[in-house]
Formats: sequence, structure tokens, C-alpha cells
Amino acid sequence: MRTTLKIVLPLIVSVSAVSLLFAAYQVRTEKRILRNDLSRRAEILGESLQESVEPLLERAPERSLQRLVDRFGQREHLKGVAVYNAAGTALAITSSLSPIFRMRPSVATRAAQADKGAGEFLSAEQTILLNKEDAVPIHIYALPLHRDDEVVGTLALFHDTSYIDKQVSRTLRDSLLNAFVQTVLITGLALILVRWTFTGPLTRTATWLRTLRTGQPHGPPNVPQGEIFDALHQEVTHLARDLNTARAAAEEEARLRDSNASLWTAERLRVLWTAERLRVSVRNKLQEKPLYVVSNREPYMHVFNEKDKSVNVIIPASGVVTALEPVLLACNGTWIANGSGNADREAVDAQDHLRVPPDRPSYTLRRVWLSDEEDRGYYEGFSNEGLWPLCHIAHTRPMFRPDDWLQYQKINRRFADAVLHEMAGTESPILLAQDYHFALLPRMVKEARPDARVAIFWHIPWPNPEVFGICPWQRELVDGLLGADLIGFHIQSHCNNFLETVDRAVEALTEWDRFAVNRQGHVTRVRPYPISVAFPENSRRVNQARSAGAERAALCAEMGIEASLLGVGVDRVDYTKGILERFRGIERFLELNPAYQRRFTFAQIGAPSRTDIERYKNFLDEVGAEAERINARFQSSRWKPIVFLKKHHSHEEIARFYHAASFCMVTSLHDGMNLVAKEYAASRDDERGVLILSTFAGAAHELSDALLVNPYDISQLADAIHRALEMPEEEQGARMRRMRQTVREHNVYRWAAHLLSDLTEIRIEIPDRMEVPMPL
Ligand code: F6P
Repeated sequence: MRTTLKIVLPLIVSVSAVSLLFAAYQVRTEKRILRNDLSRRAEILGESLQESVEPLLERAPERSLQRLVDRFGQREHLKGVAVYNAAGTALAITSSLSPIFRMRPSVATRAAQADKGAGEFLSAEQTILLNKEDAVPIHIYALPLHRDDEVVGTLALFHDTSYIDKQVSRTLRDSLLNAFVQTVLITGLALILVRWTFTGPLTRTATWLRTLRTGQPHGPPNVPQGEIFDALHQEVTHLARDLNTARAAAEEEARLRDSNASLWTAERLRVLWTAERLRVSVRNKLQEKPLYVVSNREPYMHVFNEKDKSVNVIIPASGVVTALEPVLLACNGTWIANGSGNADREAVDAQDHLRVPPDRPSYTLRRVWLSDEEDRGYYEGFSNEGLWPLCHIAHTRPMFRPDDWLQYQKINRRFADAVLHEMAGTESPILLAQDYHFALLPRMVKEARPDARVAIFWHIPWPNPEVFGICPWQRELVDGLLGADLIGFHIQSHCNNFLETVDRAVEALTEWDRFAVNRQGHVTRVRPYPISVAFPENSRRVNQARSAGAERAALCAEMGIEASLLGVGVDRVDYTKGILERFRGIERFLELNPAYQRRFTFAQIGAPSRTDIERYKNFLDEVGAEAERINARFQSSRWKPIVFLKKHHSHEEIARFYHAASFCMVTSLHDGMNLVAKEYAASRDDERGVLILSTFAGAAHELSDALLVNPYDISQLADAIHRALEMPEEEQGARMRRMRQTVREHNVYRWAAHLLSDLTEIRIEIPDRMEVPMPL
């Protein structure tokens, strides 16, 4: 209440002051208008009288003049008329006029002297001085009277002006009343608005903050949407997340200390890697040197919103982004990537840099530009029609076109130059190159900067040498990769396949005992680093206002269906993800278990991906058509088995489905790791829900508590769905707890820490006369 008063009191004072000023102005204006009007009327009347009086001055003046004066003395507000001779004595005067005016008043003297009309207002007080009995405010207008162009007297008109004062008092009273009503109304409305839009939400926000501080996180309170509160809540959510993570890390550390895990090695294995720990560890290892990351996909895309012409920032659906963003947030540094958003150029500075994330800038994004032709050859062609199907062995024929290969080489060179440009001036820089788009880049960078420590992480599977041998440029690709000091894969079998490919493709010494390759004196280590996600310690609960049941009901209403059980799949729409097989598994499940019809719905979130490639465009259509076919078989008026949500979804939107779904289905036909599987486990802090996971995804090596399936076996998929929906809560809890513990310990900070630790421990031979290139 006191706060409201503090806001409202100055408002009352200001509104009253303004209203009073306005009232004063109105009164002044009214008075001026009435006086001007009277003066003008007096002038007109005076002039017409002047014409009648002047001829009478010659002939029998006294009587005729008196008649005239008496006739005119009866008009509205006109108190009287007087005619004076040159000496100032009245020749004729309205009888009701005060005797004092028998002598010419001063204004009439002035008119005679100046030989022109003059007017004057006298207040009641001034007339008291002249005439005690007749004390009213008056206006006198005087005009010279002529004979043969000579001033021989004066004519004076006396108006009673008390009607002006009355009118002005009325106006003053009305204006004051108006001012009062306005002040009451405006202040009252302001009071309601302030309470509704400001103090109320602020009080609720303060209560929310208190719950966050005391470690009982709730979703943000229900407050009106708007810039101030959105920004405030975003900041608070970040703060709460950081606070929770720090609190959880501290708790975990204390727990481990308490459990006497004193052996360093045991501790290294058991202690959690957190953003903070990675930051400290990387700072020690890098000795304040920045970290460089290069990938094709950028972490933030700026895109024009066609509807309102605004620019939206999108986080692309990409495993690389999911994994590397937390590392960059922890370590600062520069991420070099392809600027692929159609508004990307608007967001960068002259060096093609921008600080990201937009809401809490923590590291630098350097964008590299490609023409459509380059993108077609390097990205769509060689990377995604060649290497992608080659490495995934998912029954799509790889296409290797010489033109695409030329573009691939050219763009690897362009990114290598951008990396070298960013590194200029930094001694012994550290580079983490990402993925199959940049197989040639490690050697290009290393040749120019032998002092750099270069690692490349291959995010997709590496096939056996027979399969890889299909590629006409396998030698060049392997040679480019061997320019790196360290090559990382998700799992050991991909490392084995790579070493076998090296054996067959190039001349090099493969050292199987220590998983290294020696090519022309340069040694490359090959190691498995299972990539992961940042485990959100408690933080998800901050955004999770609803129970799983309520969230499911809300999502079903949004999807326009009625269902009491939900399953979810989250994928880029890619033929390697086994989406069609998954749908057929659902179809089979419903055939075998009709009791689940009209109860269970599968929501497939599908971000359209690489749609400029024919195979992907067709696949997107195939997925839609398959969902429709199955729906047509089973659907009823308010229910259907599959809802295909064909669009990019934000992390927050996906989190709602994870929270509401009874199970999540990952059925990749072949996958390097698949972070959706880990994200799902990480998000289920209620320790409920079941993960159905393909044995052909790298994640299956770590998440053995998932229901592991062969996605080609449709009956097995149907069985797994049935098992997931029937699984007792206790079993769900036990499995989910173990999976969460795995993801929590093997999180992305651990992935980055191990990779960076191994990279920094490598001894680098730097040529004697090597000079560090300086920035241009
Ligand atoms: O799986 C490897 C990967 O690079 C992922 O990080 C990502 O999901 C995908 O491939 C690349 O997708 P895009 O072509 O859209 O960048």
C-alpha cells in the first residue's frame, strides 16, 4: 500500500497542478474575450452615436442632446452616455449615471487630447472612489466630438461590466470542478493500472524470486506479457539456472568429499564436470588463450519473419550446436561457422563478428559466407549427398560428383583461412574442428600454423574400410584428417574403422597399441569421446509450471486431439532417423493392442532439414504421407494415432513434450550418438518415462536402461511401445534414475574436458624459426 501511495501521490500533485494551470488559463482567456467583445461593441456604438451627436452640437444642443443621451442610456449593460464640452463639463448625461460623471473622466480627456477613441476598465474598487452609491465595475469608452475639424467636446459611453466578472466566476467554478474530477479519475485509473500491471506482478515476481533463492523452484508467476517483465523473467531464469547449477555442483562436491572418495583417479571419474569446472580447467590448460571452434552449422541464425518483417533468432536443430554451445559458454572463445540465416548479414560487424547468445553475450561468432553455388556443391552435394549416406550406411546411394568435390576443397580452404585469420596473434592456439564438412581443414590449418593444436571431432559414424573405399577421394579425405593432432569419434568401433581405413587408403604407420597414426613424422591420436548434453541440474523445474498430466492435456488441446497417453519423437526429418519404421511400429502396436486406440497418440516433432536436396524433400513428403495413411486406418473424430508436427521447435517447446510423454522413441537406422536420447533422460527430473532406443545409435552404448530395439524389426518396435506404456512406475523410476546418472556424469562438459585435456597434453613439434602471424 505504501509503495502504491508513493507512486500515486506525485501523480495526484502533478495532475492537480496541470488541471489548475489549465483552469487559470481558461479563466484568463474567457475574461479577455468578454472584455474585447465589450470594447468592440462600445466602439461601434460610440462611432454611430458620434455621427448623431456632432450635428446636434451646433443647433439647440442641450435639449436635443439630453433626449439622445436618454434614448441610448437604456441598452443592455450600457449604464449611460455623457456628452462633454471642450472644457470637460457635461452638456448632457444619462440621469441614472452618477453625478460624479458630470465632470469629464480622465479617459475622455485623453481621447480629446489624442483626437481619437480611448477605452478604460475601472474595477468596483476604483468606482467606489468615484461614487460610493454606485460601486460597480465599469468600462468607459470616449470619443472626440468635432466641429469644422476641431475638437469641441467628448462623448463617453459607460458600460456596467459586472456581468463579465459573473461570467468569469462561473467559468472559474466550472474549471475547478473539472480539475477536481479529472484528478480523481486519472489518479484512480492510474492506481488501478499501477496495481494491475506493476505492483501486483512485481510482488508476484518477488515471491517467485524468494522461492528460487530458497531452492524450491517454480515456474515464473502469471504476469502480463511485455518487454519489461519478459526481460526481467528471462534474466531471473538465467540467474536461477546458474544458481541451481552452482548449488548442485557444490552439493555434489560436498557429497563426494563426505563419502571419502579421496583417491584422485576415483574422484576424477566420479566428480561431476560442470560448466564452472570446465571453465577453470580450460583456463588452466589454455592459460587464458581463447578456444577456436569451426563448424558448418552456426549456433544462432538470424532470419527474417515474413509476416511482420522483424528479425528472429533461431537455434538450429543440430547435435553439434546442442553439444558445443555449453562448452563455448563455459570457455569464451570464437566459433567460426557458415552464416546461413537470411538476415545473418544484418547482425554482424565489419569483421563478420557478433557476440552471442543474444540475451547474455559470452563468446564470439564469426560468420563465413557461401554463395548458393558453393553451398550446393560443398554442403548439399559432397557433404550431404556424398559423405552423409556413405558414413551412415542407410540405404541411400552416396553421390560423388567431381564438381561437388571441387567446391568441398574450395570451402574447406575458405574456412581454414577464416580460422587462420582469427588465430593470428595467438601463440599455440587450440582449434576444435567439427564434423564431416571439414575433413581437409585440419591439414590446411596445421600447414600454416604448426604451433596450433588441432583436433577434429567426427559427429557421424565412420564406416568400415570397404564402404569408405567407395569414395573416389578417400585418400585426400584421410590425409586431410591426419593433419590433426587428435581425431575424436563417438565410440570405439568408429575409431577402429578409421584406423583400418587409414591402413588401406594411405601410406602411414598405424600404431594399434596406442591408437595413433604416424604419417610422414606427424602423429595423430584417435580416441572415442562420447558426446553428450549439459545436464540441467534442477533448472528445468524452473520452467515447468504444470504437472506431466496437465502438460499432456494442454498439448493435446493445442494439437486438437483427445488422448490420455502420449509418446514423442524429436528429429530432423532425415532418412537415417528411422521415422517411417517408427510409424510402422506404432501401426503394428495399435493393430495388436486395440485397447490403446483412442487413448494413445504419438507426437512426432520433425524439423524439416536439408530440403533443397531431392532425397530429403521426398522423404519429408513420405513421412507426412505415412502418418496420414496410418491415421486414416485408425482415427476417430477427436483422436488420431500420429500427429506430425512438421516445423522447427525451440528447446522450450520440445521440453514440454518430453515432460508430458510416457516414452520417447529414437529409432535411428544408424547414428553417431543421437543427443535426443540423452536430452530426454536429462529432462525427466520426475524420474518417469521410458526411452526406446535404437541399438544402431551411439547412445545405446551408454544408455543400456533404455528399451533397446532394432528399428528394422517392426514387431520389436510394437512390443517396445507396449512395454513402455505398461511399465510399472517403479521400473520406470529405476531405469530413468540410472540413465540420468549416466548422462549427468558423462555430460558434455566431461566430453569437452577430456577432449581438450588430451589435446593439450600432446607434445607439439614447433619448427625452430616459426613466427606467429600477426593480425592484419
Ligand atoms: O550428426 C551430425 C550433425 O552434424 C549433427 O550435429 C546435426 O544434427 C547434423 O549432423 C547436421 O545437420 P545440418 O546439416 O542441418 O547442419
